[in-house]
Amino acid sequence: MIVARTSPVPVGLAGGTRQGRAGETGPVTPSDPAFAGDPATATYYDQRAAEYDEWYLSQGRFAERERPGWHAELEHVVGLVAALPPARTLDIACGSAFLTRHLRGGLVVGLDQSRAMVALAQTRLPGGLAMVGDALELPFPDGAFDRVLTGHFYGHLPTSERTAFLAEARRVAGELIVIDSALRPAVEPEQWQERVLNDGSRHQVYKRYLTGQQLADELDGEVLLDGTWFAAARTSRPARHHAATPSR
Ligand SMILES: C[S@@+](CC[C@H](N)C(=O)[O-])C[C@H]1O[C@@H](n2cnc3c(N)ncnc32)[C@H](O)[C@@H]1O
Repeated sequence: MIVARTSPVPVGLAGGTRQGRAGETGPVTPSDPAFAGDPATATYYDQRAAEYDEWYLSQGRFAERERPGWHAELEHVVGLVAALPPARTLDIACGSAFLTRHLRGGLVVGLDQSRAMVALAQTRLPGGLAMVGDALELPFPDGAFDRVLTGHFYGHLPTSERTAFLAEARRVAGELIVIDSALRPAVEPEQWQERVLNDGSRHQVYKRYLTGQQLADELDGEVLLDGTWFAAARTSRPARHHAATPSR
């Protein structure tokens, strides 16, 4: 994905310019953000894998962050995942499997583009499979799963990637559950964020925030959680049944 270098900074994209990457120093337009197909973002998550859970656990750089009610709500999210009925479940962009590991029974497959995330995820899925793959081109036949789960991925996707992701998710499973960061007062709904890792490296990441209702509306589904920190929604369509084996 190429970042435009001469266009005006769009309203609503806090931070305005996207800096810190070799050769990418210009402003961005609303039409050109990328996440799932962005090589720099892929590098960022590979680098971040070992420290990723510090965000969930309020450790390291996140220890000082004021997040009232964060841990109680996170427990609620974990409970929501753990309470899902056993099913053939694909967790797309599973990351470290912080949430994936709470899925019960059935078949659990975690897919992520980051090798470092997948290596970590596999240690947490002794009865499941973690694999490297692209969320926008899933290596599974139609209807291979009953459910797709995705956490903190959908909210990073600009419009074109969202469309591609939803088409793939709906192709492989009848049910889709999206968990993401909730829109809160004083938070810009759409941002370029500067992320700093423990080694001091700086990375620019595209991110949207939605309320549970907004998320449900976008998915044409129902609200599962409309929290301060987390939002979740579910959508379901008639399932197709095939074996869950990688096809490409
Ligand atoms: C914010 S993390 C979310 C991790 C985990 N799902 C969670 O809720 O904590 C976003 C994840 O998306 C992954 N990712 C980004 N683009 C991807 C793509 N095209 N295909 C698969 N995974 C991707 C990253 O490697 C990263 O692990």
